[in-house]
Amino acid sequence: ENDIVSKLPLRGKKILITAGPTYEAIDPVRFIGNHSSGKMGFEIAKTAANLGAEVILIAGPSHQQVNHSFIHRVDVKSAQDMYDACHQYYADVDVAVLSAAVADYRPKNVATQKIKKKEAALSIELEPTKDILKSLGEIKKKQLLVGFALETNDEVQNAKSKLTRKNLDFIVLNSLRDAGAGFATDTNKITIIDADLNEKSFDLKSKKEVSKDIVNEIIQKLDA
Ligand code: CTP
Ligand code: CA
Repeated sequence: ENDIVSKLPLRGKKILITAGPTYEAIDPVRFIGNHSSGKMGFEIAKTAANLGAEVILIAGPSHQQVNHSFIHRVDVKSAQDMYDACHQYYADVDVAVLSAAVADYRPKNVATQKIKKKEAALSIELEPTKDILKSLGEIKKKQLLVGFALETNDEVQNAKSKLTRKNLDFIVLNSLRDAGAGFATDTNKITIIDADLNEKSFDLKSKKEVSKDIVNEIIQKLDA
């Protein structure tokens, strides 16, 4: 067996990663979605695979492409589809990183035919989707569980409460207050908060470089 392969720090580890938005159907031709590009999750998948991990990448609708023999891509549409796929693979993985921008609400009733336009205002009743990350925290065994938090205010406090509420090993905070951070950008500025509430702040970087900081934290926690 060659030296380079045996030195890969994530060799033998299975990692589940979610990425991208979800689309919640209104009728056969319309949906509720968001501007997540999926870029952050795809970069984490590539970085982890390059370090030897076997990656299950559960992706909502996204134009991102990936071609890596260690990455198994599972395409999903809705929050419920993503929930089902995550639960299908979770028992078998060492690490789960939930970077997807999952819809918090979905239309309560999905029209079977295209909704026709009328003069009157239209209301669409929404119901909550399942919180995938929280559901994985509730059944966590050996897995290292990593979440994201996208915040505009009281960032650290909100992220810490998500960390605790969802039973995470660490959370990656994206503050939308930081210029160049977030959804539609190629860069990100993150703070990592772990279960002991230690905070590490990183500089504004490309999402590829940010993915290395996140994967590095995963490697450290797996070794600890
Ligand atoms: N998440 C999830 N399933 C959901 C909603 C969120 O798995 N239905 C995950 C996201 O992938 C992310 C984390 O939960 O890792 C936090 O998402 P975020 O939207 O920041 O937090 P919420 O708990 O949804 O709270 P809010 O949107 O009100 O801030
Ligand atoms: Ca949310």
